[in-house]
Amino acid sequence: MALGCDVRLPRSSSHATDSMETISDIKTMQDRCLQARAAGQTIAFVPTMGFLHDGHLSLLQEGRKRADLLVLSIFVNPTQFAPGEDLDCYPRDFERDEALARKAGVDLIFYPTAEMIYPSGYATYVAVEGPLTTTLEGACRATHFRGVTTVVAKLFLIVQPHLALFGRKDFQQLAVISRMTTDLNLPVKIIGMPIVREADGLAMSSRNVYLSPKERQQALSLVASLRQARSVVRAGETEAKTVLASIRQRLVQESELVIDYVKACHAQTLDEVSTVDAETVILLAVRVGKTRLIDNQLLAEEVN
Ligand code: PAJ
Repeated sequence: MALGCDVRLPRSSSHATDSMETISDIKTMQDRCLQARAAGQTIAFVPTMGFLHDGHLSLLQEGRKRADLLVLSIFVNPTQFAPGEDLDCYPRDFERDEALARKAGVDLIFYPTAEMIYPSGYATYVAVEGPLTTTLEGACRATHFRGVTTVVAKLFLIVQPHLALFGRKDFQQLAVISRMTTDLNLPVKIIGMPIVREADGLAMSSRNVYLSPKERQQALSLVASLRQARSVVRAGETEAKTVLASIRQRLVQESELVIDYVKACHAQTLDEVSTVDAETVILLAVRVGKTRLIDNQLLAEEVN
């Protein structure tokens, strides 16, 4: 999240469909998806908050390969922002998103307003309880995951997808959504996709536009510290506290950077571990000026 609203536009990429439709009305969207299912079409769904970048586009590309109908939602979900976070200045550019979606082969964009999703009198929330939502991001942003699971559950009920794609950039979010889908027996296959990075390693994020050139340079220490941790582990280190200390040491070299957390966790349960192995994920959250950035590295995986 960030308080700064100074927006720098990211770059784009290719593909094409001419028959793309944008639908805002919930009932129209639901009917359109039910009709597609009744006609035997499979539906792939990519929920986003828009201001699309190559990370979002990688999810769309995979969804395009796996299903007949590709649905994208663009909705900056107010319930996952706490007061004082960047809801009001979250970057938005619907025309640009629409052009990128068309190139990516999207069939339907669902683009509702906040009043449609949360009309007056709205009172129902979906919350995954326990450590999965109270640690890491949950410890820093108490109501965040309740907002995410509520909107994703609603979107699943509107779009009725066979599969939904999420990025491992938001590693904990993916774990929480997988938990909700299993616990509620939702008939949706959740697919996790690799983190897409800029050429210099910074994990792509709609919020990167908040960074000044100097902050952006400092932000590179996130991926640098994760890469360093991997080397430390490759050299034979198994003590989590030693690996985490090496990350902190790298991060504090940047004077304007504030660490929210750096943790080594089990990739499935997100329980903290004292010994790292192939099942471990290192997760970190850092504030660079007013912008909060997250990144992570599965130790079983190359830094991508
Ligand atoms: P948003 O931040 O727009 O992200 C939408 C999807 O894109 C998420 O699954 C996220 O993990 C994925 N994504 C973002 N950056 C990525 C990157 N660099 N590489 C790969 N995937 C990336 O996450 C949300 O929106 C919202 O919380 C949402 C799930 C839509 C609910 O409101």
